[in-house]
Amino acid sequence: MKKLLLASIAALLPAIAFGAESGLQWAYPVAPQGLPRPDPVKTFQAKGTKTGMTLTMAQINNNFGPPDWFPDEHPPMPATVKNGRAPHVRACMLCHLPNGNGHPESASVSGLTANYIIEQMHEFRDGDRTNNRAPVMIEMAKDISDAELNEAAQYFASIPRQQQQWIKIVEGKTAPKNHVGNGGMRFRDEDTTETVPIPANMIYEVASDSQGAELRDQHAGFIDYVPEGSIRKGEMLATTGGNGKTIQCSVCHGADYRGLGDVPRLAGRGAYYLIRQLNDIKSGARKGNSVALMKAVVQNLSDEDMVNLVAYMSSRNP
Ligand code: HEC
Ligand code: HEC
Repeated sequence: MKKLLLASIAALLPAIAFGAESGLQWAYPVAPQGLPRPDPVKTFQAKGTKTGMTLTMAQINNNFGPPDWFPDEHPPMPATVKNGRAPHVRACMLCHLPNGNGHPESASVSGLTANYIIEQMHEFRDGDRTNNRAPVMIEMAKDISDAELNEAAQYFASIPRQQQQWIKIVEGKTAPKNHVGNGGMRFRDEDTTETVPIPANMIYEVASDSQGAELRDQHAGFIDYVPEGSIRKGEMLATTGGNGKTIQCSVCHGADYRGLGDVPRLAGRGAYYLIRQLNDIKSGARKGNSVALMKAVVQNLSDEDMVNLVAYMSSRNP
């Protein structure tokens, strides 16, 4: 009896830990503890780079000088984006990449307006954006100067939109077996063709090129494995408001969801970033002045509604 009770408590534990605050913990990835340390001497090169660089993982992860594998593909980078300033203002491109496309655990920041980018840095600084991914931004936001922020904001705003389809969407019942690894990113399990079911309230955002993602290669995008039927359901909600459940997104985000004035673009951006924002606005972890406009949009949305909405947005042409 006692044994049985213990077993059933044990069975419940992961579910409790997973769903304690919301059923969307998967969108707030954290790298597992105890991953093997990278080989200090082994060097790597991104596929197709013409720079001739071969770098160790320590060099690739250098907070103040990460690699730019394709320097010909973007405007000249200002110092704040390329190198940052020790000890607190890390190079923006470390996490957001030189083209601003970012990784699932950070954000795509290209093609946002400079005003919006500056405003968000202030929101981080002022305690208005507080999820588990935010501390790195908060640390920088408290130290960055107006001039540094301005040059970084102008740079990312000058890259009109993602220049290639960075996020590929695959809709279906299953995804390739995958795991959370370095940086909190999801990687395909190698040497297996096994699949895992995609629940209706989950998305697997998986590196399309595992090594490329680890090398911070700005060509190595992601695949969003989204639940069957989610894109269509998301489209219905986004375009009709779902009988008053939410508000048509294009009213504020623009006809093709490519942004309107300082209201950010949504089309083609990664689902993990987008859903964290919907969930944070709903929970109050993201507040601040302009967020008030989003409150009525999110307050009646279920986790599944949010999955459907971001599946649709991520699938749109950036
Ligand atoms: C160490 C990693 C890291 C670095 C370096 C970094 N960021 Fe971020 N950034 C993040 C993360 C993580 C988030 C997303 C937090 C979330 O989920 O809300 C983010 C979000 C943002 C956002 C919000 C995007 C939006 O659509 O609202 C902006 C703007 C931004 N970063 C700008 C910058 C700038 C400018 C720099 C350089 C000064 C920079 N970041 C450097 C990790 C980083
Ligand atoms: C009434 C205007 C309005 C409507 C309607 C609206 N939004 Fe927004 N949305 C905003 C504003 C304004 C912001 C930026 C908030 C800020 O500046 O902090 C925003 C931000 C967001 C963000 C965060 C983006 C980022 O870069 O961090 C997401 C995601 C989002 N909206 C999704 C949606 C979806 C999905 C819909 C439709 C279901 C929608 N919005 C409808 C005004 C609106």
